[in-house]
Amino acid sequence: MKFQRPARYTGGARLYDVVSGERPVYRAGRVVGVEELQLRPGDRVLDVGCGTGLNFPLLLDAVGPAGAVIGVDASGSMLSRARVRVAKRGWGNVRLVEADAARLDAALAASSSPPLFDAALFAYSLSIIENWRDAYAQTLARVRPGGRLAVVDMALPVGRWQALSPLVRLACFTGGADITRAPWTLALQTTTATSHHVVRGGHIHIGAGTRP
Ligand SMILES: C[S@@+](CC[C@H](N)C(=O)[O-])C[C@H]1O[C@@H](n2cnc3c(N)ncnc32)[C@H](O)[C@@H]1O
Repeated sequence: MKFQRPARYTGGARLYDVVSGERPVYRAGRVVGVEELQLRPGDRVLDVGCGTGLNFPLLLDAVGPAGAVIGVDASGSMLSRARVRVAKRGWGNVRLVEADAARLDAALAASSSPPLFDAALFAYSLSIIENWRDAYAQTLARVRPGGRLAVVDMALPVGRWQALSPLVRLACFTGGADITRAPWTLALQTTTATSHHVVRGGHIHIGAGTRP
C-alpha cells in the first residue's frame, strides 16, 4: 500500500529513543495513558503511531502473555527500531504494521488483524499524523463498545513552567508536532466515562474514555 512516509521519522529513527526526552519528560504521560486504558490480562491493544515501541513494555505488562499489542506506524525506520526492541525482549505477542493511520481500515484488513480491539492508544502521535481526525475516527471505530481509548499529547506549558515554552516549541518544530491541535479533546468529546489528566506543567495532556 502506497502512502506518504513521515520524513522526520525516517532519518531520525536511529536517535529517537536517545533525544526524545523520554525519562525526564515524556514517560510520565505514557504511564498515565496506559493506566487509563484499564487493561486486563488477555486484552488486545492497538498502539497507533507506535514509533520505536516505547509503550510496549507498559502495555505488555498489563495484557500479559495471553494478550497482544498491534503497533501501527507509517515509518518503516521507526518500526525497524521497534522490531529490534521486540526481538531483544523476545515478545511473541507484538505485531507491527507499516501503514498510514488515516487508512487504518485497509491496513488492518490486509494484515488479518482482529476486527475489534479492547483498547487503543495514541502516544505523542496525533499531533504529528497529517490526517489526524481520520486516524482518530478509524481507530475509535476499531475499539469494541466498552473498550478504552487514550490520547497522550502535548501543549505549551502553563504557570511557572511557561519559561520552558521556547524549548517546547523548538522540540515540537523539530519533531513535526502541531502543538495547537489538542487532540486529546477528541477522546473527551467522543467517549464516555472520560478522564483528563495534565502532567509536566501543562505540557502533557492525557484524554481517555470508553467507547459507547
Ligand atoms: C513522536 S513519535 C511517537 C512515537 C511513540 N508513540 C512514542 O510515544 O514514542 C510520532 C510517530 O508517529 C508516526 N506517524 C506520523 N505520521 C503517521 C501516520 N500518518 N500514520 C501512522 N504513524 C504516523 C511517526 O512515524 C512516529 O513514529
